[in-house]
Amino acid sequence: MSTFHDKVIYQAYPKSFKDTSSNGIGDLNGIKEKLPYLADLGIDMLWLNPFYKSPQNDNGYDVADYTSIDPIFGTWDDFDGLISEANSYGIDLMLDMVLNHTSTEHEWFQKALAGDKKYQDYYILRELQEDGSLPTNWESKFGGKAWSKFGDTDKYYLHLYDVTQADLNWRNPEVREELYKVVNFWLEKGVKGLRFDVINVIGKDEILEDAEDGVGKSHYTDTPIVHDYIQELNKETFGRYEDIVTVGEMSSTTVENGVKYSNPERNELSMIFSFHHLKVDYKDGEKWSIMPFDFIELKKILHEWQEGMVEGGGWNALFWNNHDQPRANSRFGDVENYPVETSTMLAQTIHLLRGTPYIYQGEEIGMTNPNYEDLDEYVDIETHNAYKKMREDGISHDEAMAIIKEKSRDNSRTPMQWDDSKNAGFSDAEPWLKVADNYKNINTENTDVSQAIRDYYKTLIRLRKDIPIIQEGSYDVLELEHPSIFAYVREYEGEKLLVLNHFYGEDDTITIPDELLNMDASYLIGNGSERKLEKEFKLGPYETAAFLLK
Ligand code: NOJ
Repeated sequence: MSTFHDKVIYQAYPKSFKDTSSNGIGDLNGIKEKLPYLADLGIDMLWLNPFYKSPQNDNGYDVADYTSIDPIFGTWDDFDGLISEANSYGIDLMLDMVLNHTSTEHEWFQKALAGDKKYQDYYILRELQEDGSLPTNWESKFGGKAWSKFGDTDKYYLHLYDVTQADLNWRNPEVREELYKVVNFWLEKGVKGLRFDVINVIGKDEILEDAEDGVGKSHYTDTPIVHDYIQELNKETFGRYEDIVTVGEMSSTTVENGVKYSNPERNELSMIFSFHHLKVDYKDGEKWSIMPFDFIELKKILHEWQEGMVEGGGWNALFWNNHDQPRANSRFGDVENYPVETSTMLAQTIHLLRGTPYIYQGEEIGMTNPNYEDLDEYVDIETHNAYKKMREDGISHDEAMAIIKEKSRDNSRTPMQWDDSKNAGFSDAEPWLKVADNYKNINTENTDVSQAIRDYYKTLIRLRKDIPIIQEGSYDVLELEHPSIFAYVREYEGEKLLVLNHFYGEDDTITIPDELLNMDASYLIGNGSERKLEKEFKLGPYETAAFLLK
């Protein structure tokens, strides 16, 4: 059996987890202080977003020094203390490797700017086209064009993200070597997990040209050379160890590439994050829009990825939430009327699928979007860029704010709600991002809604460890076109696991096939009343139920 298929990974966003230094920003010691909480939950690995030196224009994804700790988060002693104490609880650390780009404050970029040719070749610099237009017509993923002027030269540098995040030139072997040193540095510190930021966009075309669609993704996403780079990265770094878990964040990828990235025979990564299932409430593919989520589409995407990864021997990372997504319970459920049912149903839907579940801080207690009223309450750079763009496009202030309220990445970045005291027990100083108003009821000490959700998560985590079918079972869907229920069957060594998840607020029924009814069924876990499996199985609002069949 694979070494990591029974594991559950928890993501803590260091900035918002727990502040022990009273600067309003979470820190490494805060994470250390909360290890007993995480151990009690039962998680195996803790993914931390970047805490390296950074100007924080993109909350640490603009790294200025890969092998340092930003003083806002703590010191080397704090890091050493965190890793050893985590290990004593049986928790390993997973760190974020941001290898596609550096901050423009990184020494390499600064040297390049100062005219050092060696470092100029670390980045992607080009001249304007003959007609005076930018080197290519590509767009930055954070809005605007993907090229900015390189100092006072006549060149431009590529930045697929913020203007302060310059893309590295992976075609330069020296760059790759430098980056492998970074990865090895952290592995030598005892880190056991690596999350590779937007790793499928590192391989830009050799000749950079205008894109027909004016966006450019096909010129740098999932290009064949990416697989070569990842294989080399594997060989030069984590592949030298037995027990490292890796996950690649894959922007706009395909199942076919997902299989390649994560099939163990190819020596690339352990698993991947894909995002198509989190775009089912984008109107015409546009994130900054409001649309009720398309349930059938959501199911089809989850289904396609499950089926494709089984067939190709790949492995999915399973998740609803992270620091880039609005809260899934606010998005796909009814947090007003069914907070416990919504959160537990969403959790069960993915925890019992084939893949590795990730829990993003606070989802285990039912944290929701904060519903800020004011643009000033948002910090995220992407949100502010989007606001500007929407206003330029003629969208009214009120409409733009309504969209931001649903779509901003800050929705998930609010401080962790520990208790009902000031600032939700996150900090005794003013938090860098406002706490959600509902912290008095939704917090880790609440004995009602939050506790019910957390207890449910604990059970799901334990079941994954106890039941091989959850770790290793195959996957099949039931009634893909059912309008409100996502039902699937896992199978392993003659046993089956039937999981029924209802995504809406009214009762609905699904017909269970005779082949399953003829087996011996026992109720495994659900958020409604325990009952027998029957032909016309009725599920209540946001109900989830799982049966083991022998
Ligand atoms: C993906 C990260 O998750 C996101 O937060 C960041 O802005 C981009 N990559 C750029 O590094």
